[in-house]
Amino acid sequence: MIPEDRPITAQLNTPSSHSLPEEDQSVLQIWGRQPLAGQVKISGAKNSALVIMAGALLCADDCRIRNVPSLVDVSRMGEILSSLGVKLRRQGDALEINASHIGQAKAPYELVSQLRASFFIIGPLLARLGVARVPLPGGCAIGARPVDLHVRGLRALGADVQIEHGTVHAYIRGSKQRLKGARIYLDCPSVGATETLMMAATLAEGETILENAAQEPEVVDLANFCRAMGARIRGAGTNTIVISGVPSLHSTDYSIIPDRIEAGTFLVAGAITHSELSLAPVIPDHLAAVIAKLRSIGADVISDAPNRLRIVPGQRHGATDIKTLPFPGFPTDMQAQFMALLTLSEGNSIITETVFENRLRHVAELNRMGADITVKGNIALIRGVPMLSGAPVVATDLRASAALVLAGLAAEGMTQIQCLHHLDRGYENLEGKLLEVGARLRRIDADMELPSSEAPGSPLPT
Ligand code: UD1
Repeated sequence: MIPEDRPITAQLNTPSSHSLPEEDQSVLQIWGRQPLAGQVKISGAKNSALVIMAGALLCADDCRIRNVPSLVDVSRMGEILSSLGVKLRRQGDALEINASHIGQAKAPYELVSQLRASFFIIGPLLARLGVARVPLPGGCAIGARPVDLHVRGLRALGADVQIEHGTVHAYIRGSKQRLKGARIYLDCPSVGATETLMMAATLAEGETILENAAQEPEVVDLANFCRAMGARIRGAGTNTIVISGVPSLHSTDYSIIPDRIEAGTFLVAGAITHSELSLAPVIPDHLAAVIAKLRSIGADVISDAPNRLRIVPGQRHGATDIKTLPFPGFPTDMQAQFMALLTLSEGNSIITETVFENRLRHVAELNRMGADITVKGNIALIRGVPMLSGAPVVATDLRASAALVLAGLAAEGMTQIQCLHHLDRGYENLEGKLLEVGARLRRIDADMELPSSEAPGSPLPT
């Protein structure tokens, strides 16, 4: 059992969201054009960790989740679960969750508004308690991101759902307190809606069929976690998922998959710096679209072992066109990083962002570094340039900040990135991992003035 006396922030031992204002006062300085070499350990998948933490609400026994990355987003999700009365304890990369007693069906707005994924608790909370009240997460930097598909699906499962004063109130009518299986067609294969409805249907009466479901590896990971607790789910990873409801779930010990987006980011780090990097653990199938695009521009990606990938960059990279799509298409979460790479490729590339409506805000920052990118609507035309030059830039969202780090690694001179809280949301120890393979960078207080010409000698870490 999880001891009750330790505060959640101490238990999780991750960067606390309370330190965010300070994080935002710091900048990341990168001295580019350093060759990288070596091995990078890939952390557990952020998006799996977040939804599996929500999924643990389905079970009244202890759940142990391993390979959980240490991230601000994970910490926030922990705070949300703890506000509901759930007990959590962090031990290394394992997180023990005990949701035997959920004393609250309402999640606090201050926490939900900071983390969109926290809305995903609505499905398991409703299935467990028969009632859930979760504030609307609102829009975010990359788009409006509505939750209509989540709401419509929960109604199809028999829940009464009303939206009042910015909060979604969902409850199950009648004395049985169980949702009812249904056939649900999703208008678009939303990852979050698929996960919400899969979790809700796990404890429903009868069979639920989710059609046009998301096929992302994190959806499969959640399904496997639920199955490890006794849920009956088949078809996860295809566009039709069938869930046969069970009355209750049991304790489990589950390890989440490696983060394919972190791995993809390091593959691009190798390509953009013309360096060989070896990454493990990874699941190469999860990176098929990213690997195909790297190969199409002249880099090679070699699978040395079943769970290891090595990037072997080309002498000079060519252009390519990319359209972001739901899995197994090219991931929107890798779009910004690839754009950084294509700024230095020979020829013209076109990137079309089809998943989110406002996910090209990194273009202006990359152009400040000497890139030549023009945008029309959701389409970016990237004309390759021979060189980027370091500049002060501002991170606009999580993956945009990764793109700026990558551009900084390849640029001549020093790049200074502000608004680092975006980066800390989703990359575990990115700076440490880059330093280990030879990058020259450091995080300093924003008011610590440095001449822009300062060479990356001491006291910089080498
Ligand atoms: C998840 C990922 C995010 C990734 C995205 C797409 C997590 C925590 N986040 O986000 O990193 O970029 O998948 O792979 O797992 N939509 C609606 N109505 C809805 C739900 C979604 O219109 O009810 C739209 C969204 O606005 C968006 C598109 O569907 O344009 C895809 O969104 P979705 O797949 O739901 O993304 P998230 O689950 O929010």
